[in-house]
Amino acid sequence: MALCDPSLHHCQDIVDCSFTKVVASRVGASISRAVKTREFAHCSKTKIIPRDAAASVDDIERFLRGGEVCLREFTLEELMEATGCFRQETLLGDGGFGKIYRGRLPDGNSVAIKVSKTHLRGLPEQFKAELRVGSLIARGYHPNLVPVMGYHYAHLEEAIIMIIVYPFMANGDLGHYFGSPRSSQTPPDWPTRKRIALSVARGIYSLHQLGVVHCDIKPYNVLLDENFDAHVGDLGLAEFMALSGNIYDVAGLHDDVESQCLSRVKGSFGYMSPEMHNEGRCSRKTDVYAFGVTLIQIVTNMPLLFVLKDVNWAEKLFKEKEDLTTMMHPTMLGMYDESEALKLIQLGLICVQHDPAKRPLMPEVIAIMEGSSTALEQRWNNYDYTWLSPADSKRAKNDQLICMF
Ligand SMILES: Nc1ncnc2c1ncn2[C@@H]1O[C@H](COP(=O)(O)OP(=O)(O)O)[C@@H](O)[C@H]1O
Ligand SMILES: [Mg+2]
Repeated sequence: MALCDPSLHHCQDIVDCSFTKVVASRVGASISRAVKTREFAHCSKTKIIPRDAAASVDDIERFLRGGEVCLREFTLEELMEATGCFRQETLLGDGGFGKIYRGRLPDGNSVAIKVSKTHLRGLPEQFKAELRVGSLIARGYHPNLVPVMGYHYAHLEEAIIMIIVYPFMANGDLGHYFGSPRSSQTPPDWPTRKRIALSVARGIYSLHQLGVVHCDIKPYNVLLDENFDAHVGDLGLAEFMALSGNIYDVAGLHDDVESQCLSRVKGSFGYMSPEMHNEGRCSRKTDVYAFGVTLIQIVTNMPLLFVLKDVNWAEKLFKEKEDLTTMMHPTMLGMYDESEALKLIQLGLICVQHDPAKRPLMPEVIAIMEGSSTALEQRWNNYDYTWLSPADSKRAKNDQLICMF
């Protein structure tokens, strides 16, 4: 197939094609910028690049030069060498932002390299968000977050290439193991699953301490290293509470005053809190809700649609005293401690209460996971049994809904 077929009319194909062209043009040796530019001009004849691209370019360039980003800038040649020119065999995944390749740097470190699909609406914002959080993380030690090692950015004629480099996580994402119809792996043992759940909670809390709300917590965005230590990643939808111009404190949230901001509606179906889904209201409780769904999945290995089905888990398990095994995936048989599993499901349910004011913040979630039974009891005594599944929620009014599920 021709590398750049002008009959292609799909945006993603064009930009992937542009990217392939750049890679191809650099293979071997000294192909001049003029040649590369001509290739891009050829691709761009299709005139499908959005008109706001120029604004995006200026904005990204200003952002990269502004001093906020303290990450290594890789050259395309370095990344090509690391991946054998982005060979198909090195492809790890294909997500909302783009393709992820596995590579090895000359110093021997294994890396994951995320290449943007295109500069469709929203992607430059995701690129900036990842580099912004990556730079914040780089200034401290956050064992439960995926660090950003560096980036590559190029604006070539009308194509934008945005690449982010992370350390490679040998055991992939948590979604691979839990609650997904695609799950093919035996889930990790019970102590490991508890450790993973606690690490995810700690990862979210370290983001909150930095003033960042993740906004897309879900098993697919938690990565496991070679020791099955969990790291929260994919910060492209992160919201920066301290930077948002429209922060307001809502004193009406019972006992805590929670910083919120109005954002566009974003996140993944099933993990999105009702206030985000319906009004784009974002706060740390947005992540607490998504963590609750994730926690129930880690404990039960149930698919998302079952977790969200019109099942009142609390009624069934704690009022009707239904047997826990009926709520667990068959793969979990003999793979859990019943009383610990029930407590973690209780915690998950507390986190997914409809009213954000009723959800705890992450330090309390962590304390409960570390064994504070009084905190769990107190919360459970005030548990709101009204079960409103997201299907009961109103459809989002905002037409900018992003569903990455
Ligand atoms: N550092 C990494 N190590 C191993 N696999 C990774 C890494 N980063 C991403 N992946 C794989 O790629 C998938 C998509 O990555 P993610 O960062 O979530 O991008 P997207 O924004 O496209 O969802 C992940 O679910 C995981 O399977
Ligand atoms: Mg993702």
